[in-house]
Amino acid sequence: MPKSPLTLDPVSALLAWYDKYARVLPWRFRPGQTANPYHVWLSEIMLQQTTVVTVGPYFNKFLKRWPTVIDLAAAPLDDVLANWAGLGYYARARNLHKCAVAVAANGGVFPDSEAGLMDLPGIGPYTAAAIGAIAYDLPLMPVDGNIERVTARYLAISKPLPGVKGELRDKAQKFKTNDRPGDMAQALMDLGATICTPRNPTCEACPISKGCKALAKGIAADLPKRSPKKPRPVRYATMFWLTRPDGRVLLQKRPEKGLLGSMLGLASTEWLEEPVGNVETHAPAKSKWTAVDGTVGHTFTHFHLEVSVLTAKTSRKEKTGEIWLLPEDLGDHAVPTLFRKVGKFVAS
Ligand code: ADE
Repeated sequence: MPKSPLTLDPVSALLAWYDKYARVLPWRFRPGQTANPYHVWLSEIMLQQTTVVTVGPYFNKFLKRWPTVIDLAAAPLDDVLANWAGLGYYARARNLHKCAVAVAANGGVFPDSEAGLMDLPGIGPYTAAAIGAIAYDLPLMPVDGNIERVTARYLAISKPLPGVKGELRDKAQKFKTNDRPGDMAQALMDLGATICTPRNPTCEACPISKGCKALAKGIAADLPKRSPKKPRPVRYATMFWLTRPDGRVLLQKRPEKGLLGSMLGLASTEWLEEPVGNVETHAPAKSKWTAVDGTVGHTFTHFHLEVSVLTAKTSRKEKTGEIWLLPEDLGDHAVPTLFRKVGKFVAS
């Protein structure tokens, strides 16, 4: 007779639950299949700060275009950035490419140790543990936001984030197992994403509810606690939507270093903490500039940007470093979401 999950230890209960309810995700390997470290690495880099739903189509598109890490390493960086556009955090795409080049130089083989993985560009402790566990079944426990939440609740740890992060990372090791560590990590991720959700957790469906201290105390939904966030500073910019008679709009390649580095962007004033005055002196052409009513808001990790937009038409000749694109084609190029939003705003 199989034991009821409620009588199992949390590790066995979670693995049994995962065998039954694991989400089907494009990068997942079914039981019995061998994990492909390239797929695991690619998905983990894409999933940093982004949701499973957003990542799915990007993951499939990358694999179709670059079936192996050697193919990805051989791609021009601009192509990788263009295909990454919309996922945000473009430094990750640059590191992704750098990492692919390093792995390709090693014959396309990813290191199979935590330390070897950590030596690669863009791979920190979380990602090294995730790849190690999922691709190589190393006994490691990556701790992401989902696993932090499950741990805080299971052990009723009510000190606030972000200060308690280190403690949660240590305590999450309780769930580590030598048997199927990759499945265990993904079981916890799935539990956090589907049952032990930030709001309204469905504790009645949880395979480890019996041992959950927060549930016993009636405080599951209140954990993890968070220290009050500092409000994000606001910056202001004016961007210039300059179009030619053929309908193409001016984009410029951004400097390699800094936010949205190497991507294409609209001409803009600096992004400052006070609205910039005399904006037309920053315009990319002398013309009759017209303000669009309202502003476009876009939130980055460390600040919120409010963008005013001026539009004008020009028939001047192309200058070096300029790229003129049809607005409907912005999605095919390395144009970050911020500038695509501005395009939609101008068209609306
Ligand atoms: N989030 C980060 N890595 C993940 C994975 N392998 N499965 C599901 N969600 C994840």
